[in-house]
Amino acid sequence: MVDTKTALSGWELDNPVIPASGTFGFGQEFAAFYDLGILGSIALKGTTKEPRFGNPTPRIAECTEGMLNSVGLQNPGVHKVIKEELPELKKIFPKKAIANVGGFSEEEYVYVASLFDKEEQIGLIELNVSCPNVHAGGMSFGTDPKKVESLTRAVKAAVKKPLYVKLSPNVTDIAEIALAAESGGADGVALINTLLGMRIDLKTKKPVLANKKGGFSGRAVFPVALRMVYDVYEAVHIPVIGMGGISRAEDVMEMMLAGASAVEVGAENLVDPFACRNMIRDLPRVMEKYGVKSLKEIIGGAHR
Ligand code: FUM
Repeated sequence: MVDTKTALSGWELDNPVIPASGTFGFGQEFAAFYDLGILGSIALKGTTKEPRFGNPTPRIAECTEGMLNSVGLQNPGVHKVIKEELPELKKIFPKKAIANVGGFSEEEYVYVASLFDKEEQIGLIELNVSCPNVHAGGMSFGTDPKKVESLTRAVKAAVKKPLYVKLSPNVTDIAEIALAAESGGADGVALINTLLGMRIDLKTKKPVLANKKGGFSGRAVFPVALRMVYDVYEAVHIPVIGMGGISRAEDVMEMMLAGASAVEVGAENLVDPFACRNMIRDLPRVMEKYGVKSLKEIIGGAHR
């Protein structure tokens, strides 16, 4: 009998598999496929103070072993999420969820995070300083270590729940940004968000996405994400959530060996709605195959 449990800042999870923000909405669409109660947790769609319609279409482009998105933080706004989405989520998901907080100013991040902080359904707050699809906020915060540190400090002062900062891979040294988050008081970091990319339509000779560029995710990014998780684990002393291209139970174990305490699964949910369920189903078999009795014991194992 293997042990798939893990923990994030004292929050015990049955297993490390968490659908990533932006690929699972607020859970409703996936509840038709399987019992969401098997998931470690769910990272909710990035939420801002005001409702957002998102970017013009087309905002999705398929790529080899991945996809580009330029959604632009479409969401109903924090008040509607708390009033309508969280009660609906409670009916299909009995565990605590992760609130992904977006923003365009320090005040907005603090405002949204402090509202989620009051919700018993929220287990931790993921500060999204890495969305590449908005012209202000998002990645413009997350690529500057000074801004990451001061924003983290401001939000940390306003919340009691664990605060994890979601990092952008679109930097020279992601470990430097992780260290800035740690200096600002982050309880953990989550990485990687999407890699900035683009496609051009040969017929129109123009970018495929209306916003021209978007965030690339999917299986192709897995080795890049794994390397970044490995580097960040070496640099910081706070837990790491690993994500980027995870598509099977073996990838979950690789991410944990690199240093992740839990993982988020993103684009794969859009390829196969059963992806997270299958990983959770397969984990015990894969652990047994590689002689792993407890997932907690392998966190960071590749560094030892
Ligand atoms: O465009 C989006 O909504 C994506 C958000 C993100 O990558 O964090």
